Parts: sequence; structure tokens; C-alpha cells
Amino acid sequence: MELSVSISFVTVFSAILFSTNLANTEMHSSITTAASIQSVALKREAHALLHSGWWSGENTSSHHCQWPGITCNHHGSVTNISLHGELLWGKSLEELNFSSFPNLVHLDLGSARLVGEIPLKMSNISNLSHLDLSDNNLWGQLPPSLGNLSQLLMLDISSNKISGHIPGEFGCLMSLVTLKLRSNLLNGTIPPSLGLLTNLTELDISENSIEGELPLSLTNLSNLVKLDISSNYEINGSIPSEIGNMKKLTYLDLSSNQLSGHITSRIGAMKNLTYLDLSGNHLSGNVPPCLASTQLRIDFSYNSLEGQIPYEFSPYFANVSFFGNENLCSDITFTGVHPCSTKDSGDDKIIKIIFSISVFIVCAFLSVLLVYKYGYKNKKRPFGDTTTKNGDIFSIWNYDGKIAYEDIIQATEDFDIKYCIGTGGYGSVYKAQLPKGNIVALKKLHGSEAEEPSLRKSFMSEVRTLREIKHRSIIKLHGFCLHKKCMFLIYEYMERGSLFCMLSNDLEAVELDWKKRVTVIKDIAYALCYMHHECSPSIVHRDVSTNNILLNSSLEASVSDFGTARLLHSDTSNQTILAGTYGYIAPELAYTMVVTEKCDVYSFGVVALETLMGKHPRELLSAVSSSSSENLMLAQVLDQRLSPPTNRRVVQDIFLIVKIAFMCLLANPKYRPTMKQVSQEFLARGAPISSKTFRDISLSDLMNSQVYMDAESQV
Ligand SMILES: *[C@@H]1O[C@H](CO)[C@@H](O)[C@H](O)[C@H]1NC(C)=O
Ligand SMILES: *[C@@H]1O[C@H](CO)[C@@H](O)[C@H](O)[C@H]1NC(C)=O
Ligand SMILES: *[C@@H]1O[C@H](CO)[C@@H](O)[C@H](O)[C@H]1NC(C)=O
Ligand SMILES: *[C@@H]1O[C@H](CO)[C@@H](O)[C@H](O)[C@H]1NC(C)=O
Ligand SMILES: *[C@@H]1O[C@H](CO)[C@@H](O)[C@H](O)[C@H]1NC(C)=O
Ligand SMILES: *[C@@H]1O[C@H](CO)[C@@H](O)[C@H](O)[C@H]1NC(C)=O
Ligand SMILES: *[C@@H]1O[C@H](CO)[C@@H](O)[C@H](O)[C@H]1NC(C)=O
Ligand SMILES: *[C@@H]1O[C@H](CO)[C@@H](O)[C@H](O)[C@H]1NC(C)=O
Ligand SMILES: *[C@@H]1O[C@H](CO)[C@@H](O)[C@H](O)[C@H]1NC(C)=O
Ligand SMILES: *[C@@H]1O[C@H](CO)[C@@H](O)[C@H](O)[C@H]1NC(C)=O
Ligand SMILES: *[C@@H]1O[C@H](CO)[C@@H](O)[C@H](O)[C@H]1NC(C)=O
Ligand SMILES: *[C@@H]1O[C@H](CO)[C@@H](O)[C@H](O)[C@H]1NC(C)=O
Repeated sequence: MELSVSISFVTVFSAILFSTNLANTEMHSSITTAASIQSVALKREAHALLHSGWWSGENTSSHHCQWPGITCNHHGSVTNISLHGELLWGKSLEELNFSSFPNLVHLDLGSARLVGEIPLKMSNISNLSHLDLSDNNLWGQLPPSLGNLSQLLMLDISSNKISGHIPGEFGCLMSLVTLKLRSNLLNGTIPPSLGLLTNLTELDISENSIEGELPLSLTNLSNLVKLDISSNYEINGSIPSEIGNMKKLTYLDLSSNQLSGHITSRIGAMKNLTYLDLSGNHLSGNVPPCLASTQLRIDFSYNSLEGQIPYEFSPYFANVSFFGNENLCSDITFTGVHPCSTKDSGDDKIIKIIFSISVFIVCAFLSVLLVYKYGYKNKKRPFGDTTTKNGDIFSIWNYDGKIAYEDIIQATEDFDIKYCIGTGGYGSVYKAQLPKGNIVALKKLHGSEAEEPSLRKSFMSEVRTLREIKHRSIIKLHGFCLHKKCMFLIYEYMERGSLFCMLSNDLEAVELDWKKRVTVIKDIAYALCYMHHECSPSIVHRDVSTNNILLNSSLEASVSDFGTARLLHSDTSNQTILAGTYGYIAPELAYTMVVTEKCDVYSFGVVALETLMGKHPRELLSAVSSSSSENLMLAQVLDQRLSPPTNRRVVQDIFLIVKIAFMCLLANPKYRPTMKQVSQEFLARGAPISSKTFRDISLSDLMNSQVYMDAESQV
């Protein structure tokens, strides 16, 4: 590496001397001079790439146009640098000399774990049309000079820690089609100049701290298809009726802000609208009847709407949420809204049936349809108020029945300690038997805990994560109750408790035989694979441990405790919190706070070994790392409470798991397999790992055996 740097310096240097000589020599034609200048420019590009250090792990002796992620034009000049998802751990944009790439058109550094500021020099890549810096750890402010990138079509800086204002100069990016600044720390107001970007089809500035009113000029963006300014919490003023000019909108999310005034019926003019989220604002007045439509999913929840819900909505109740509007009433009672008449609906059988059906429909659709925004700041009445108790902050889905708030209070005698079955990473866990006999588990934050912002945050993180995902081996969340005075989550009940507890109990450990342990480990792998590779954005659990693997009555495993999951993506302000459980945390987290899927892979390796060994592999791992494990036999280290496995398939499965677990525990995250590779390996049932018997195989036999991991499948 060092050698090639110096070679490159020499070549560049001599090329410059060479071209200077040429320029001073009249005997040579200007064509030759131009060619030399071009060659100097190309060498400058090569040098800038090498000098960045971003390709240090690669074979840099090949031509730089062949390096991973680099595309050149036919002159050999770089046009495309695409390192999306490559882990440039802790590297910064400053390291690449952007002035050296006059022909760069496409720069994709999304999800590359970059740190540092966005350099001013970036504005010198004047031909750039595509700039993706999303999902990194960039901080500092947006350089106004980025407004010079007049060819930009796509600018995505989402999910970083960028602070300060959105520069008014962005209004100069006249070609822009996509502008995404979601999930940063941006403050100030929306610059009216953004209204000049008339080619924009997508504008996303959600999850920032933008304040002030929506500039009227935005309504000039007549090509917009998606507009998301949600979760800024401080955007105020009213929704301008001119918003109806944006006739191409299909997605409009203004939720979790401070918008007030009436809902303009001009929204009904957007004939292609399919998603409208106005929840968590201070909108008042009546609901415009013209918004009722079969293609439209609407969230009006947590506002101050009043009057009667127009009958036009009645066919579409499944797709509309009116929760948390205290003065809104309905002729037909359904979740969240009280009937207009004051008579006791409990006496009326028909209304009761309609009520249950509506609850069922609403619940069934909830998880898919409505993204619950918790940042509303409306004043809520406490529980016990008969007009609001159903809809206010109590939500149930993913459950084929009805759970009422009262049922839970009754079943636990208002969270009496005798129903407490444990305390988790946060909150206490209760067991509740509902009137129909079904049992659910409740995780509750107590008084002072509920006031603690970090606990509330992990609580909400769990709701958001589990709401979006569904997998056989991931704990099912049935609902939640969210109120300062009463915060709890409702889960499916896992009869046998945690894997950790089962392994700690000598009797139960024997019940968990080899075959069941193999199944448990594979199921955990499939669940993590699903989270990492099939969810978008992918979910990193961050706290995989045997404490967080729960077992049901058939000893089937579910991954639980998502309190710290994906915090990295959703919470950009608080990254220094080290989440996870000691003994399961990947070593790189000790010196970098950057969390990737590979951290879960490491924890999975620990859990897999622990499940087979019956105890934490702490000592084994230190023996392996100090090479004092040379002659350790597998049979010696696995759980001695079980008699050795006899089934040949189970034996091969154990070999494979141990082999893979050690790969997952490699110190360098880059060399650990992905959960996708692990899952594919488990599903493949490939050739036997070894012909040795369970008694004869040593750990080093396993570590040195070949497992072919399909490189193609690496994501
Ligand atoms: C590096 O690339 C060069 C040129 O493609 C090739 O000749 C050489 O064998 C490669 N070296 C390694 C270690 O892969
Ligand atoms: C840039 O390179 C990436 C990866 O090689 C490729 O997917 C993308 O299509 C390229 N883009 C352009 C504009 O050439
Ligand atoms: C960056 O590149 C430009 C042009 O190639 C050059 O003038 C400048 O010295 C370089 N800067 C650094 C820090 O290498
Ligand atoms: C940018 O692109 C244009 C045409 O695509 C090309 O002529 C020009 O040389 C490129 N570079 C700069 C620095 O403008
Ligand atoms: C950027 O380009 C401008 C002119 O195009 C030049 O004056 C300036 O020095 C360049 N900045 C850097 C940091 O290379
Ligand atoms: C780039 O933008 C800055 C500030 O927005 C401006 O002062 C400068 O002249 C621009 N540079 C070029 C080369 O357009
Ligand atoms: C916006 O953020 C910047 C940088 O963090 C800070 O200096 C400034 O005071 C903030 N402005 C407001 C109005 O909060
Ligand atoms: C806007 O888009 C249209 C159609 O794609 C295109 O002709 C026009 O040049 C674009 N405007 C700018 C400023 O890029
Ligand atoms: C909308 O665009 C028109 C035409 O470009 C312009 O005259 C008008 O001032 C713009 N409206 C706002 C509110 O910026
Ligand atoms: C919106 O909030 C700003 C402060 O962020 C305040 O100055 C302004 O008066 C508010 N406007 C309305 C209509 O409430
Ligand atoms: C609405 O969608 C249809 C079908 O995608 C499309 O043809 C039509 O142009 C759209 N209307 C507007 C106003 O964008
Ligand atoms: C709910 O919306 C979906 C898609 O937008 C639509 O297919 C479905 O028919 C709607 N359901 C009702 C009851 O309106």
C-alpha cells in the first residue's frame, strides 16, 4: 500500500514535469500537449482515489477504473463512484479530493458509515447529477455552495446528524427531481426558495426540527408526487388551500407538527392521493366530506377536530383513523370516537355488534395502514374519562379478538406485583389472563420510568419496530397503551420464558435437547436474516442475547426486546449510548459507536455457542484467542448435561453451527458472514462438515474445515 502510494506520487510528479516540458517546447504540436494534460488529469484522479485510503483493503495495483465501485468513461476518467453499503468505517468525505473529478456524474456513498462534515469542495463536482450521502454519521451544516451543483437530479442526505438551516441556495438546484433531508437535526424554517424547484417529484424533510409556517411557494411544486414534512414537531400555521395545486401528489404526510386551522377541502382536488397523514397536529373544525374515498388511507388522529364524522366515510372506516379527537362524534360507534347520542351503547346489541366488527376491521388494518406518530403535543385527558378511553392512546392490532383497556387493568388488578413475572431491560413484565382465557404479556414502564426520556424512547422504538415487522420467530406485539400515566406494551405470551433461564435450570436444560437447540439457533438466524435483509430499512437489533430469546410452550424461539433496535437510524441525536448486553457486544463497538448488522452477527455467534454449551462461551473464547485451545475437543466444551447426540443429521448440524459461530465471532466485522449467508448455509444442508464422529472432532478441526459461503449472496 505505502509502496504504491509513493509510486503513484512519482508518476504524477514526472507526468507534470513531462507535460511542462512539452508545453515549453515549440517542436511539439498542441495536440500532444492536450493529450498530456489529459493524462495528467487522469493521473490526478487515480492519485485522489488512492490517497483517500478508501480502497486500502483492495488490490490497488490494478488500474483504478477496475477498483470496486468505480466506473470510468472511455477516456478513462471517473464518472461514477458507488460505494453504497461499503463500510468505510470512520472515514470522512474530506479524504477524497473532489476537485480532481471533473467528470464525476454519480456519487453514491449511502450507508457507508462515513463521519465528519460535508466538505465545501463538494460543490466543485460541477457535473454531478446524483449525490447520495444518506444513512451515514455526517455532522456539521449543509454547505450553501452545494447550490452550485446545477446538474443535480437527486440529492439524498437523509439519516445523518446534519444541523443548522436548509440553505436558501438549494433553490438554485433547478434540475432537482428528488430532495431528501429526512432524519437529521436541521432547524430554522423551510426556505421559500424551495418553491422554485418545479421539477421536484419528491420532497422529504421529515424528522428534523424545522419550525415556522409552510411557505406558500411550496404549493407551486406542481410536479410533486410525494411530500413529507412529518415529525418536525414545530411546523405551525395552517395548511394553505393552494395545496390543492399539487395535483400529482399521491403521498402527503404533515403529521406530528403544530399545524392549526381547518382542513382544507381542496385536498380533495388531489385525485391521485392515496396516503394522507395529518395526525398529531392541532387541526380543528369539521372533517371535509369530500375526502372520503376508496383509494385513500387517511390518518386524522390526535387533532382537535369536532362535529360529526360525515356519513360519506362510513364505507371506508377501515382506512381512516379518527382517534384522539375528543370533540368528534359518530353516528356509528367505532374505535376512537364516541357516539353522538349520550345513551349507553352497552344496552344496544346491534351497536355493540357493529362496534366489535369495526374494532376488528380497524385493528386488522392498523398495523399496515397507519404509521402511528407519537410526537403529538395535544393535551390529553387522563384515563378514566369515559368519552375518550377507547381511542385516545390505546391501540390493538395483530390480534384476533378484542382487548379492552379495562380488561387489562382488571386482569392485573391494576398491575399488582403478584402478576409481575420479571423485569426486562426496561420496565416490568406482567402476565394477564383476559376474560376469554387468552394470556398476554405486558411490559410496563412505571411512574418515574415513564418520565425518563430514554426509556420512553426505547419503548417507542419497540412499538415502531415491531409494528412494521412480522415473522414467525419475532415476538408479536398486539398493541400498546401510551400515556404519561400509563405506558405498556401488549405481547403474545411466551410460556417458557427466556432461553437464558432455560439453560440455567438443570431440569429445563435437559428438556431442551440437541435437536431443539439446533432448531432454536436456526430460527434465531432466520429472524435476524429477515430483519437485516428483508426489512426496509433494515433493522439492527443491537441487543441479541439469550435473555432476549423467548420460548413458547413448544420450545419455539422468538427474538424479543426491540427497545434498542434501529435506534441508530431513528435517533440521530444520541449515538453515544452503548446499547447491548455485556458479553454479547461486538468488539468494534468498544472503539467506534457505529452499529451495523455485523454487530448482531457477532451477538448471534455468542448466543449460538451459549445454546450448545449451556453457558456463556466467555472462557472458551479467551482460550481460543490465546491459542490455548489447540487440542480442545468439541465434546468437551458442549453442554455436559445432555448425553452426546447420536442422530447423524443433528451431529452435522452442530458441527455446522459451531463452525459458523466462530466465523461470526471474528474480530473484523468485514470477515463475519452476513445473516443471509448463515441462513442459506442452514437451509442448504450441504456436504457433511466432517467425517469425524462427535467424540473425535476437535475445535480446530471445525475451524479449519471448509464452509463455502456463497459470495453472490452478500448484500
Ligand atoms: C492485483 O491486480 C493485478 C492486476 O490486475 C494482478 O496482476 C495481481 O495478481 C493482483 N494481486 C493480487 C494479490 O490479487
Ligand atoms: C454507478 O455504479 C453503480 C455500481 O457500480 C451502478 O449500480 C450504477 O448504475 C452506476 N450509475 C451510473 C449513472 O453509471
Ligand atoms: C486536490 O486536487 C486539486 C486539483 O487536482 C489540487 O490542486 C489540490 O492540490 C488537491 N488538494 C489536495 C489536498 O490534495
Ligand atoms: C461535464 O459534462 C460535459 C458534457 O456532459 C462535458 O463537456 C464536460 O467536459 C464535463 N466536465 C465539466 C468540468 O464540465
Ligand atoms: C472550486 O472551483 C472554483 C472555480 O470553479 C475554484 O476557484 C476553487 O478553487 C475550487 N475549490 C477547490 C477547493 O478546489
Ligand atoms: C458557489 O456558491 C457560492 C456560495 O453559494 C458562491 O459564492 C460561489 O461563487 C459559487 N461558485 C461557483 C463556481 O459557482
Ligand atoms: C440551529 O442549529 C444551529 C447549529 O446546531 C444552532 O447554532 C442554532 O442556534 C440553531 N437555531 C435555532 C433557531 O435553533
Ligand atoms: C425539468 O424537467 C423537464 C422535463 O423533464 C426538462 O425538460 C427541463 O429541462 C427540466 N428543468 C430543469 C431546470 O432542469
Ligand atoms: C408561483 O409561481 C409563479 C410563476 O412562476 C410565480 O409568479 C408566483 O409568485 C409563485 N408563487 C409563490 C407563492 O411563490
Ligand atoms: C409559528 O412559530 C413561530 C416560532 O417558531 C412563531 O414566531 C410564529 O408566530 C408561529 N406562527 C403561528 C401562526 O403560530
Ligand atoms: C394520476 O395517475 C394516473 C395514473 O397513474 C395518471 O395517468 C395521471 O396523469 C395522474 N394525474 C395527475 C394529475 O398526475
Ligand atoms: C382501503 O384502501 C385500499 C388501498 O388504498 C383499498 O384497496 C381498499 O379497498 C380500501 N378499503 C376500504 C374499505 O375502503
